[in-house]
Amino acid sequence: MEGKKRTFSGIQPSGDLHLGNYLGAIKNWVDFQDEFDNIYCIVDMHTITVRQNPADLRRRCLEQLAQYLACGLDPEKSILFIQSHVPAHAELGWVLGCYTQFGELSRMTQFKQKAQQHADNITGGLFTYPVLMAADILLYQADLVPVGEDQRQHVELCRDIAVRFNGIYGDTFTLPEVLNRKAGARVMGLTTPNAKMSKSIPEGCVLLMDKPEDIQRKFKRAVTDSDTERCVRFDPVAKPGVSNLMQIYSAVTEKSYDEIEAEFEGKGYGAFKPAVGDAVVERLRPIREEATRLLADKVYLESIYKSGAERASYLANKTLRKVYKKVGFVAR
Ligand code: TYM
Repeated sequence: MEGKKRTFSGIQPSGDLHLGNYLGAIKNWVDFQDEFDNIYCIVDMHTITVRQNPADLRRRCLEQLAQYLACGLDPEKSILFIQSHVPAHAELGWVLGCYTQFGELSRMTQFKQKAQQHADNITGGLFTYPVLMAADILLYQADLVPVGEDQRQHVELCRDIAVRFNGIYGDTFTLPEVLNRKAGARVMGLTTPNAKMSKSIPEGCVLLMDKPEDIQRKFKRAVTDSDTERCVRFDPVAKPGVSNLMQIYSAVTEKSYDEIEAEFEGKGYGAFKPAVGDAVVERLRPIREEATRLLADKVYLESIYKSGAERASYLANKTLRKVYKKVGFVAR
């Protein structure tokens, strides 16, 4: 793996994986798997920043691992592990918190949104969440962070923390950059083309494990635009609904927007919506089947996350030792 750039990313096991997670993140993890040296995590420690049912959280971690594998992640090429199995994340998170400003954290969009959604439970963990995310990335000296656009602000804060730390103590951390592709980087809800697809709006959210008929139903009910033109043309400002469907279709089929416009010329929205649904059904069908099969094999899943945690710990502890020494802790 020597010489390859390193990627790191993670997804919260806070609900079922959806098409936004897949197109914004996992699909790129899989597509770039040979090019980079990859580390992908199930970030359970981030998930408890809002209250979880313990049994559900445990179940979703395993389901998520099965889905990562079913999407095509190969444990030989990508280290796959569960965040809480590598204590260095929490340890570095503490140190980095001491190099992060209250003002910086107060400006984070995700914090402001989640604080609104969970107004009765705005915890310290929710506030310092981006510091733990910075620790995740910096522990592995990641060059690239394949995430959707909504996570860009957190990656930028991570860079700011790394630059600050390096400025005080000399070169310690690699400065990471976001990696994503235009189509898929910000998938909007099918019923809310002006808000990103998320589990909080279930009717507009396509889950990786949805049955084909449910996926089709969601696409048929997708909100299209009330413009008079009614043709399939990419214009996110005037036609956010159709443009979102085009983005999804493009990401799933690898067709360009020009090709899609030509394919549906003169056909209108009525033909386009089920065609996007079909393409998504066919893309997700093998994933759903393979995830179901893998989920039945708990021994295999355990072997993957155990060996993943071992390999991740080795890399993480190297960085943590360096950081502890630099800040002045007595060696263990
Ligand atoms: P999370 O769990 O909310 O989302 C996981 C990934 O899915 C992407 N994503 C989307 N992409 C396109 N369109 C959407 N509608 C959409 N919804 C979600 C996200 O951008 C993300 O890539 N803080 C992170 C998890 C995390 C992390 C990390 C990521 C923790 N530590 C270190 C990278 C590196 C989060 O909440 O993602």
